[in-house]
Amino acid sequence: MYVSDGLTVNASGHLCVSGCDTVALAKEYGTPLYIFDEALIRANLRAFRAAIEEIYGGNGLVIYASKAFNCKELCRITMQEGAGLDVVSGGELYTALSVGFPVDKIVFHGNNKTYDELVMAVDNNVGRVIVDNITELETLDAIARSKGKTVGIMLRIKPGIDAHTHDFVRTGQIDSKFGFALETGEAMAAVKEALGMPNLKLRGLHCHIGSQIFAPDPFVLAAEVMLDFMHLVQMETGTVLQELNLGGGFSIKYLESDPLMPYNDFMRTVAHALKEKAQSLGFPMPFVLIEPGRSIVGAAGVTVYTVGSVKTIPGIRTFVSVDGGMGDNPRYALYQSAYELVCANKADQPRSTRITLAGKCCESGDLIQENAPLQPVVPGDYVAVLSTGAYTYSMASNYNRIPRLPVILANEGKARMIIKRETYEQLIENDL
Ligand code: LLP
Repeated sequence: MYVSDGLTVNASGHLCVSGCDTVALAKEYGTPLYIFDEALIRANLRAFRAAIEEIYGGNGLVIYASKAFNCKELCRITMQEGAGLDVVSGGELYTALSVGFPVDKIVFHGNNKTYDELVMAVDNNVGRVIVDNITELETLDAIARSKGKTVGIMLRIKPGIDAHTHDFVRTGQIDSKFGFALETGEAMAAVKEALGMPNLKLRGLHCHIGSQIFAPDPFVLAAEVMLDFMHLVQMETGTVLQELNLGGGFSIKYLESDPLMPYNDFMRTVAHALKEKAQSLGFPMPFVLIEPGRSIVGAAGVTVYTVGSVKTIPGIRTFVSVDGGMGDNPRYALYQSAYELVCANKADQPRSTRITLAGKCCESGDLIQENAPLQPVVPGDYVAVLSTGAYTYSMASNYNRIPRLPVILANEGKARMIIKRETYEQLIENDL
C-alpha cells in the first residue's frame, strides 16, 4: 500500500509522513492539505547528485525541474543541496530569485518565453537559457546585444524518441511544439546561427523525451542521437559543444505495484552508453545535466482530505466525496493518473472496499480516483492520496473559487508550514 519508505503507520493506526502524524496535522492545519517529506526530497536530490559524482566524476549537474513543485522553500532546499533549478516562466524565476538562488545554476525553459521573460533572464544573468526556436534565438541575441551582455544558451533539440508514456506528456518526437527538429536540418541551421552570434554563448544542447519513463532504453537512445549530432556539429563547424542536457522524466511509484526505479543503475546505463558512444566517435565526454522533477518530489507528497459524504449507488459504485478535488489535483481528470488511497486515521486496517474518490467541484469529471481500494470510511474520516508531490500544487487552480491548499513539510517527527492556505480575501484581492 505504501509507495515510499517515509510513510509509516503509528500505534494509533494513523498514517505518518517522515514521522509526523497526518491526522494530527490535519487537525492542526485543517484539510485539504499537502504534506511533504522533507527528508525524502533531500535524499532524492542527494542521490542524483551522488550519481553524477560517481558516474561522471562530478562532470555534470543535477537541475531540479521546479515545474513539479515550485515555492520559496523548495528553491532553498534545492540550493542547500547544491542542485540547479529549471524554471519555465517569469513566475518560477521570480520565486528562485527571491531567495537568492545562484543564477549560474538556473536554466530557463519554455517554448514561448515572452519578451519580458527573456529580458528578465538577461538582466538577472541566468546561466543557461534553453532556446526553443529561431525567433527566440534572434530576440535573445538582440536583447543581449542591446545590454552589452553575453548570455549562456543551450538549444532544445527533438531527438525523435518515442518514450512510451502518456501522449499528453510525450515531448520528444518530431510532432512536438518543443525544440528544433534534427531530420529537417532545422537544428543544424540553428546551431550555425547561434555560433555566429557573439552575444550568445552556445554551451551545448538539450533534449527531454517525456515523463514518467520506466526504462533506460529511450534515454540511452536519446543520448546516442544527441552525441551523434554534437559530433556532426564538430565536423561541420569545427566547434566542440561542451554540454549535454538530457532532461528529466524518471518515473516514480504511484501504485504499490509500479516498479521502483533504481535511479543510480538507470544513470549508470545511460552514462555507459554515452561513454561508449563518445569513444567510438572520438568525441570528448560532455558535461552532463539532468533535470529530474517528479522523481524529486512526487513520492514525497501526500494530500489529506476530510470525507464529507459517502454515497452508494447499488450495483454501480460508491462515491466518497472529499473537501478538495481537481482544483488541488487535476491529474486524474487530465491524465487518468493512478493513485493509492489510504484512510489516514484507519491506516492499519485492510482496504476492503472499492470506491470512487470524488472532489467537491461542480463537475462530474472532478474525480481523484476510480475503483480504488480503501478502508471503509464514514464522514469525518481522513483520506490520504499518496504520491501527490509532483504537478499538484504547481497545477492547482481556483476553480469554483476554492482557495489553494497549504503545504506542510515533515522532517523526522517535526513539521512546519511552508505555504499558507489561501484566504477568501486573497481570492478577491485583484478583483476591481
Ligand atoms: N525538463 C523539461 C524540459 C521538462 O519539460 C520536464 C517536464 C522536466 C524536465 C521534468 O520532468 P519530470 O522529471 O518531472 O518527469 N504535468 C504532467 C507532467 C508534465 C511534464 C512537463 N515537463 C504530469 O502531471 O504528469
